[in-house]
Amino acid sequence: MIKRLFIGAMVCLTFSVAVADEGMWLPNLISERIKDMRSMGFKLKASDIYSDSKASLKDAVVQFGGGCTGEFISDQGLLLTNHHCGYGSIQKLSSVEHDYLTYGYWAKSLKEELPVPGLTVTLLVRIEDVTERLASGESADSIISKVIKEGDYVAEIEPMYYGNQHYLFVYQRYRDVRLVGAPPSSIGKFGGDTDNWMWPRHTGDFSIFRVYAGKNNEPVDYSEDNVPYRPKRHFKISTKGVEEGDFTMIYGFPGNTQEYVISDAVDYVVNKANPMKIALRTMRLEIISAAQEKDAAVRIAYAAKHASIANAWKKWQGESLGLTRLNTIAKKQKQEKEFAVWAAGRTEYATLLDSMHKAYKKVIPAYFKRELFYESVAAIEAYSIAIHLRNASAKVEAGAMKVEELNSLRSSLLKNYNKEIDSAIANCMLKELLARMPSEALPKSFKEAVDSCGGVNNYVEQLFGATKLLDSNTALTCELVNSDSFIAFVSMFIDMAKEARSYAFRNISNVPAIEQWYRPYMKALREWQSERIFYPDANFTLRVAYGTVTGYENVDGEYHTHLTTLDGIIAKDNPEIYDYDIPQELRDIYARKDFGRWAVDVNGRKTVPVCFQASNHTSGGNSGSPVINAKGELVGINFDRTWRSTMSDMEFDPSICRNISVDIRYVLFVMDKIGKAEYLFDELGM
Ligand code: ARG
Ligand code: GLU
Repeated sequence: MIKRLFIGAMVCLTFSVAVADEGMWLPNLISERIKDMRSMGFKLKASDIYSDSKASLKDAVVQFGGGCTGEFISDQGLLLTNHHCGYGSIQKLSSVEHDYLTYGYWAKSLKEELPVPGLTVTLLVRIEDVTERLASGESADSIISKVIKEGDYVAEIEPMYYGNQHYLFVYQRYRDVRLVGAPPSSIGKFGGDTDNWMWPRHTGDFSIFRVYAGKNNEPVDYSEDNVPYRPKRHFKISTKGVEEGDFTMIYGFPGNTQEYVISDAVDYVVNKANPMKIALRTMRLEIISAAQEKDAAVRIAYAAKHASIANAWKKWQGESLGLTRLNTIAKKQKQEKEFAVWAAGRTEYATLLDSMHKAYKKVIPAYFKRELFYESVAAIEAYSIAIHLRNASAKVEAGAMKVEELNSLRSSLLKNYNKEIDSAIANCMLKELLARMPSEALPKSFKEAVDSCGGVNNYVEQLFGATKLLDSNTALTCELVNSDSFIAFVSMFIDMAKEARSYAFRNISNVPAIEQWYRPYMKALREWQSERIFYPDANFTLRVAYGTVTGYENVDGEYHTHLTTLDGIIAKDNPEIYDYDIPQELRDIYARKDFGRWAVDVNGRKTVPVCFQASNHTSGGNSGSPVINAKGELVGINFDRTWRSTMSDMEFDPSICRNISVDIRYVLFVMDKIGKAEYLFDELGM
């Protein structure tokens, strides 16, 4: 762990010394960090954070869906997460008559809570170090099947430190999850892609759900008879707010970091992968934006797609800038030179770096192929629509699905689809694929098809002209699907897709051919840098990050303070700009200064706090994570990092890396003044 004291350009602030922390710690080992946490102000014990045997804060933190975090805030299973995490669910429940995405949704009683088909919430039951069990010959499958026999559990064995250790995670997955409340998008997504990955920030990025269970509190499928889940532990909300210098902790599920990789991997990301991915997404976004500008219906239909393409696109740009500015490649190369000197006398490690460089030479082209495939072929919407329909058609043939269902599936897949946009994207992406992929890596059938048409333009025109899959007016049959031009296109890429999938959830450094070398390398690093404290890279398992509420010096002479307020929302408000067009109600509340009990004094102004930043080490997956104060109370919901932090998945810089949270007082203000959600305040006892 690197720990530095820093004093920003906070000349006029006396409490300006802050300690920033790198690290995403395993909660079951948090006793190793607790002294440090307490020295920074934390008041609780390690067993309050995590315990196998008694209720602890870990019982109040959940995986929300397949990539976010959430937290219980009542003994009746009431759950908070981000608006952008609930977005897909809210969209699913929305229709033209009931547009909850645009206008928000507030249940007024349990009866009005809306079930979200397919949405799950996953609770961690326990963590167990199974390194020795595996070493003594027990198989992962047998460990997992024993757990599954114990009860209705989901079990996963996750490698830590590139497989030097293995931990068993036992979960319960709840399948009846209902929407309780969501602000209008103009609050929940305020600032949109313009402000995304940036500070100052003013997004009310929250939504509220409730987990339902069977009579015995167990996970069950949706039924009217289900009752609210009673969590072992839920967060107490603190409305006292945060000050610069306060301790904060983030408890959640960061997805994927690679902090210990050698320079080859950073070089790949900065010089090969990111430039390609950024370039292709720039083209895709330009096509979508141009269509959105011309047509309001397209703007709405493509809003979520645009946001998700733009999210990673923007992050990669910040990441490349950050890694370049930090000189990460050169720093790593220097470290590798020093390591090589140390390793030279040790037979176990002497040739390790050479093997790693060699392995990267092989792995990089294969991994790049995968990334290019995802950004080009798989970026064509009709490609995935065709796959869905092909799979469904196989089910119809096997008698497991009706042909009417095949047709209604197609209608739902085409809900927000625009063929002109997609064919323009296909045209552009397939040209990029041909230009960027080594010819021998391309499917022969695809090259021949393009050649026989006389080029990509004609090929794409024929492909989209001939397909019946994208035309709701043609009734689908299995014969039609199976002989469709797009199914033929999908088939050409079947091997490439299979290979790409084999890397699922893996970054360039944990594909098997490299990981086998990282295992001894990690072990060697820990022997070599025996003073350094290592935390395992994020892998969507539960972690604790801790730090302090603090601003930072963004550029020379420009200090970004820790807190934003409603005044900043009003300053940005502009009905002409989609991302900054707030609800009239909020304007009126502001004009009346009707802040109720949520009013605070900020530098002599009566206002409402909105977002704050802190120095916790977070990553994608930490969205929706509870932000916890020194007493273990909830003070915010994490949702982003600042622009200059985005390289922290590869190198964390404590002087500028900041996570962004929505202040819980803004959440409550919106629930109260916009949502008028009295019944929730009764439940919260507030
Ligand atoms: N950057 C945040 C994250 O990585 C928020 C993304 C959602 N917001 C958006 N404007 N696209 O997920
Ligand atoms: N917005 C991210 C998410 O959805 C969290 C921000 C980050 O990457 O730090 O998980």
